[in-house]
Amino acid sequence: MTTYLITGGCGFIGSHTCLSLLKRGHNLIIIDSNINSSQNVLGRIYKIGHIENNHYENQITFIKGDIKNYEILKKIFIDAIHKKKPISGVIHFAGLKAVEESVKNPLLYWENNVFGSINLFKAMKSYDCNIIVFSSSATIYGNPKEKFFREDTTIQPMNPYGYTKFTIEKILKDIYISSNKEWKIANLRYFNPIGAHESGLIGENPLNIPNNLFPYICRVAYKNYKELKIFGSDWNTYDGTCIRDYIHVVDLAEAHCAALDYLIENKPTILNLNIGTGIGTSVLEMVNTFSKVNKIDVPYSFANRRSGDVPSIVADNKLALKTLNWFPKRDLSEMCKDGWKWQINNPNGYN
Ligand code: NAD
Ligand code: UD1
Repeated sequence: MTTYLITGGCGFIGSHTCLSLLKRGHNLIIIDSNINSSQNVLGRIYKIGHIENNHYENQITFIKGDIKNYEILKKIFIDAIHKKKPISGVIHFAGLKAVEESVKNPLLYWENNVFGSINLFKAMKSYDCNIIVFSSSATIYGNPKEKFFREDTTIQPMNPYGYTKFTIEKILKDIYISSNKEWKIANLRYFNPIGAHESGLIGENPLNIPNNLFPYICRVAYKNYKELKIFGSDWNTYDGTCIRDYIHVVDLAEAHCAALDYLIENKPTILNLNIGTGIGTSVLEMVNTFSKVNKIDVPYSFANRRSGDVPSIVADNKLALKTLNWFPKRDLSEMCKDGWKWQINNPNGYN
């Protein structure tokens, strides 16, 4: 059994990825400050395990802590070595991700995302751990002209959040080069993860009013909010609303497992991979599919464009498919069905 360190493992993508890794029999050390998540997610993961006759309690060590604190990270690596279960690799989810907040409070983002990551990489270097999968984002591409974004599409972040992701990728590249190319690194550039685990026991849990489309639709359908405001009806797209590449969070979780497997089995490398479906969906299509699949009304009206929005963001995912031998299996209907199941079973999130 291999031991992996998962930073931010209580979050939306982290929790689903932990579940996929646990199913594969791995031991996990999770560090999370719970600044944007709940520790109760662990109980839900155990519950899913029990349903499947697994005891994930024995595979998880949880440390409530902040990656900005180097001493905590150091202790985690040392303890794992003492227990003769050294950390073989890291998946680095811990970070803040709200674009608007990053514009208002850039220092918070640079400190949390970049300084936190530097601490993590320093600890990894000190304890000879050089395998890492990093949560990057399609947001680093900005607003290029191409219909499908490739990994070599020009990088041009449009906000501090995007710059922190790009900067962390750059730091990892410098580490790779300076270490005489001994590290194994995968920067996964996620497109738009939505949905939830099919059990309805874990899912996305925004602690404030959601900024993103899918959790907002769920709350409107649940009648927490009166209607969805669709930001712009005059974009240069087939129905005038913006297009995004939505990916089921469980498919995204599986991409992380595939990335770790790839890194473990292959020579040192640094990979940049787009993790999306390659299929674009407009806001109107999303609303209509959600309504149809779940047989529920989603009232909406059109509003002004959101500042900083981009008309279309769709992945060219060929490199990821080929490299990782992975492909997204769940379609938009499943994303809508599973996301809605999570919403109706957990109107108050993990409380
Ligand atoms: P999330 O907020 O649900 O999860 C992030 C987790 O990290 C939370 O549990 C939070 O408490 C923890 N965290 C934050 N700062 C920390 C710190 N300094 N120390 C310890 N824990 C800390 O977000 P998510 O949607 O699961 O995203 C995970 C990662 O993927 C983030 O880095 C995010 O930037 C990136 N990402 C997300 C999306 C998306 O649409 N959800 C898209 C692209 C990239
Ligand atoms: C946002 C972030 C991006 C991040 C991504 C995934 C911004 C500018 N960008 O992108 O950095 O990587 O989330 O976390 O915030 N929409 C509505 N009404 C709503 C909410 C959204 O019409 O109430 C529209 C948006 O205008 C957009 C689409 O729905 O066209 C998707 O929005 P969202 O879910 O926020 O994702 P992104 O815009 O891709």
